[in-house]
Amino acid sequence: VALTQDELKKIAAYKAVEYVESGMVLGLGTGSTAKHAVAKIGELLHQGKLKNIVGVPTSKMTHEQALSVGIPLSDLDKHPVLDLAIDGADEVDPHLNLVKGRGGSLLREKMVEGACKKFIVIVDESKLVNHLGATGMAMPVEIVPFCWKFTAERLQGLFEHAGCVAKLRTLNQTGEPFVTDNGNYIVDLYFKSELGDLNVASDKILRLAGVVEHGMFLGMATTLIVAGELGVCVREK
Ligand code: A5P
Repeated sequence: VALTQDELKKIAAYKAVEYVESGMVLGLGTGSTAKHAVAKIGELLHQGKLKNIVGVPTSKMTHEQALSVGIPLSDLDKHPVLDLAIDGADEVDPHLNLVKGRGGSLLREKMVEGACKKFIVIVDESKLVNHLGATGMAMPVEIVPFCWKFTAERLQGLFEHAGCVAKLRTLNQTGEPFVTDNGNYIVDLYFKSELGDLNVASDKILRLAGVVEHGMFLGMATTLIVAGELGVCVREK
């Protein structure tokens, strides 16, 4: 019987939790994959198999979930260096570069995961790509709401050569802008052709006033755990 995508996400998440040791300060990721890891860490704490764990959540949603499963929480001000982060991703390339933020939590994820000694990315095999920003998939950019159209047009203009289309992320029900945990908007960039050098693209985006952060996580992941039909595979960078 074929496993569902959610079962694969759970397998990857549980494998990552094997790396958690008592006494660690943990970056807690956001999304449908990371939530399985947060639940499992809560369960192990409850059973006494893990002790003295402190979690630093990457979103309000994960904050709520972690509290509900009994993980003591802290923040980067109190714990500027973390032992380990576990989080999902939207795309992973062969160099372990990531696209994140289709759930909207990219800024806090980048801050927390950038402060971790080890960052384990957990995905089902559908997230593996040869190049980030593959046709049809969104590359999220968090921007300030002030004159968002202006910023969205500037972003689109930066990548004219790659046929970029920039779209403000909106809520399905109302059509209102999606608002991040930080009170900002998200512009999703769609490319028709390859983006080229990712570090150059990253610098260009970050130099634009109005941009807060983008969803490319370059050179940050240290370990990749992929669950697929044939089993689970761990790759160190
Ligand atoms: C949240 O903004 C994202 O970066 C998520 O970590 C990413 O979208 C992966 O989410 P899923 O595990 O739900 O696919």
